[in-house]
Amino acid sequence: MYPSLFLFLLVLIIGAKGTQLRSDYYFETCPEAEFIVRDVMKMAFNREPRSVASVMRFQFHDCFVNGCDASLLLDDTPEMLGEKLALSNINSLRSYEVVDEIKDALERACPGVVSCADIVIMASRDAVFLSGGPYWDVKLGRLDSLIASQENSSNIMPSPRSDASSLIDLFSKYSLSVKDLVALSGSHSIGKGRCFSIVFRLYNQSGSGMPDPTIEPEYRVKLNKLCPVCGDGNVTGDLDSTPVVFDNQFFKDLVNGRGFLNSDQTLHTFPDTREYVELYSVDQDAFFNDFVEGMIKMGDLQSDQPGEIRRNCRVVNRQPLNLVADS
Ligand code: HEM
Repeated sequence: MYPSLFLFLLVLIIGAKGTQLRSDYYFETCPEAEFIVRDVMKMAFNREPRSVASVMRFQFHDCFVNGCDASLLLDDTPEMLGEKLALSNINSLRSYEVVDEIKDALERACPGVVSCADIVIMASRDAVFLSGGPYWDVKLGRLDSLIASQENSSNIMPSPRSDASSLIDLFSKYSLSVKDLVALSGSHSIGKGRCFSIVFRLYNQSGSGMPDPTIEPEYRVKLNKLCPVCGDGNVTGDLDSTPVVFDNQFFKDLVNGRGFLNSDQTLHTFPDTREYVELYSVDQDAFFNDFVEGMIKMGDLQSDQPGEIRRNCRVVNRQPLNLVADS
């Protein structure tokens, strides 16, 4: 390979590492970026409201695994097991095609400029806003990873069986407070979960052979119908009673013992998190403010690894190593 090309690629990859994030990052290089993302998200919302919730979830599953670097979006290759099939993601994360559509539209307008990692952050904000939630300015300028780690994702991402104290520990590793944990769990104000994620609490909570006693009885009857023993684990139920509206109903439901996921309901059972659940159940503005703060903090989790601007969010660009082999 030509030495100058190699050097250029190296500078491209390493040079932007650790870039300061800022809200006007694409102001000159792709001024329409945020409008393009919004338009595609709007179309997705009109096609299937749940799809924007599914996209919003990507921010959590991306940022907690080696920072917000779109590692989540990489497909498996013969050399690398990606994160899409990690324990918490397999048969669960969905709507990757919405990110593909956004990326295609951005590549048409400003080729090679907007990272997939930033797309996830913009799209998550738009998902919340389109569903009736708050709007906020996002910081941009992230790079896309060159690798993904299925193992890290499986080890890190929490199970629906988690209790509040293990979630507090997990979030604290990312400098996210108890308040951040409860506010961010309010993302379950939109979207759905599978029976697979709740059958244990319906029939055998903590190996007791009994249901979780914190489930409100009428709600339990409803869940039992939706998710019978040995039923189809892929059947889905709403995470709160207004699943396409981003509001504080999720917290009202928790106060009434009507949380879908065990990990959500324990936020009300556990004293340290309960005060926030109760506050948000009566004060939607407090929820919105703290949620936005949490999303921004989570978006600040950066990767310390080299990166690039991927042309296709599912694959890394042709790497220098391949170019060496080609020359
Ligand atoms: C606090 C720890 C969390 C746990 C244990 C957790 C767990 C889960 C589980 C088990 C599901 C249902 C998956 C399924 O059954 O297939 C789910 C759905 C969802 N999660 Fe979380 N989650 C957490 C935090 C978050 C955060 C911080 C966000 C975003 C900021 C988020 C956004 C979502 C969304 C939007 C859905 C619905 C997705 C859809 O409808 O496709 N979650 N989560």
